[in-house]
Amino acid sequence: MHDRDGAEERSRMVSEPRHRVECYGRLVTLAIPTPSGERFVHVRTGTQSQVLRPWHVLTNRNDPSAAMVDEWSLLQHDPMRAYRAKRDLAHQSVTSKYNILGFISSGTYGRVYKAQSRDQEGKLHAIKKFKPDKEGDVVTYTGISQSAIREIALNREISHENVVSLKEVILEDKSIYMVFEYAEHDFLQVIHHYSQSMRTQIPTTVLKSLIHQLFNGLLYLHNAHILHRDLKPANILITSAGVVKIGDLGLARLTHQPLQPLFAGDKVVVTIWYRAPELLMGAKHYNKSVDCWAVGCVMAELASLRPIFKGEEAKLDSKKNVPFQKDQLLKILEVLGTPDDKEWPGIRDMPEYQSLKRLDAYTSRLFDWCRARVSSNAGYDLLRQLFAYDPDKRLTAKEALDHKWFHEDPKPSHNVFYGLSPSQLPPHRRITQDDAPSMVPAQPSQTQAHVSQFSQQMQGHTQGSGGSFASLSAGAGAVLGSGIHTRKKQRMG
Ligand SMILES: Nc1ncnc2c1ncn2[C@@H]1O[C@H](COP(=O)(O)OP(=O)(O)O)[C@@H](O)[C@H]1O
Ligand SMILES: [Mg+2]
Repeated sequence: MHDRDGAEERSRMVSEPRHRVECYGRLVTLAIPTPSGERFVHVRTGTQSQVLRPWHVLTNRNDPSAAMVDEWSLLQHDPMRAYRAKRDLAHQSVTSKYNILGFISSGTYGRVYKAQSRDQEGKLHAIKKFKPDKEGDVVTYTGISQSAIREIALNREISHENVVSLKEVILEDKSIYMVFEYAEHDFLQVIHHYSQSMRTQIPTTVLKSLIHQLFNGLLYLHNAHILHRDLKPANILITSAGVVKIGDLGLARLTHQPLQPLFAGDKVVVTIWYRAPELLMGAKHYNKSVDCWAVGCVMAELASLRPIFKGEEAKLDSKKNVPFQKDQLLKILEVLGTPDDKEWPGIRDMPEYQSLKRLDAYTSRLFDWCRARVSSNAGYDLLRQLFAYDPDKRLTAKEALDHKWFHEDPKPSHNVFYGLSPSQLPPHRRITQDDAPSMVPAQPSQTQAHVSQFSQQMQGHTQGSGGSFASLSAGAGAVLGSGIHTRKKQRMG
């Protein structure tokens, strides 16, 4: 570039003070908006090939390029600003990278959408959008929720076939979007399929494969010193290839050298039906064994197609004190019997020991419970050991994987659906459009294209109207969250 051209460019930049700037060491890129799109100008500084000579300009305060110089000198002295400029330059919006196909679920922290990558591979993804903070209708920004931080931080560090993988995180307009690999099914959906449509038990090989892969993923998390703390059917996903993926690390925590004790920050963990007895008894310390209890509950639920310990949750009082969960504990006692201090030596020291003593006494009937539901002694034995009252005696994920139930026929398979006929397969995940927030209206042609692509993919498993779905596809990520009415989770513990 000649000097004269450089001067022309410079005056253009000055006339457009909101140009975007990217800074790589001594190479600076300025993106200048023009009617025909952005024009990029590269400036090398501090060398002989310097074109715009910013330092020369800087010395001449009468020069009209002062605006640019201000920005320039700020960039030199404000690395944060330089970083933001670089980040903004590279930023691609969620909807420019992903075609939003529909809405999957709404939870405590945000909404999950099904999306397809717009690149050549066109892979399916689940995008979890964390709600921004709101004051009335005004979106404010008070920081990132602890749940989002944990979920992002932990997910970024881990990689295992049986744990859902995070592809990327996008920050856009005060919202966080986590892009996950897509999983067509989850355990809850399999339970519904067998209880509502098939009206038969889940075949033993499927049950065994599901639990085996679940323990595989859990062993990986536990070896990485991660407690999941919210294992339940809705959080355990399955791909269409029949591979189990542990999801929803929103409550997960690192246990290795924690800065504060686990109990201090999170008084209530694990959805109540899957909550281990030591938590119900008010334990201040707990460990990985709470996840193994939850897997026991999940296994029993897969075997019987309904939650084994379906208690009523007592709510926090007005002072946010954690109440004694009497009904939940009773549900456990009814099946497993009342624990004594031979079975659970630490029980007398539990904060809720006196509350437990006031309840009726029960004897165990787990063996009978299993007879019609888990058709093998080894299966009963696994469940019995996962339901050990004493957390120290409870089977670990590693011990569970070595258990004889997994080594006797039928053996678990890599594809959990192996051997099932198409009619036995659970249906595709339901996605809806009626719950989608109203978005920037779509072009009619776009609507048509999306609807036909979508209906092909869902093979008749769709619900809702195409109109709002299409508007979702067309809209900018910025307004994904506006005007939402939050749908209740399928099931609350
Ligand atoms: N990777 C995924 N693929 C498909 N569906 C998913 C995926 N992740 C989550 N979902 C669906 O969204 C629901 C909510 O996601 P989850 O991560 O559990 O968030 P929440 O904190 O709201 O429970 C899940 O129960 C599941 O139905
Ligand atoms: Mg969840």
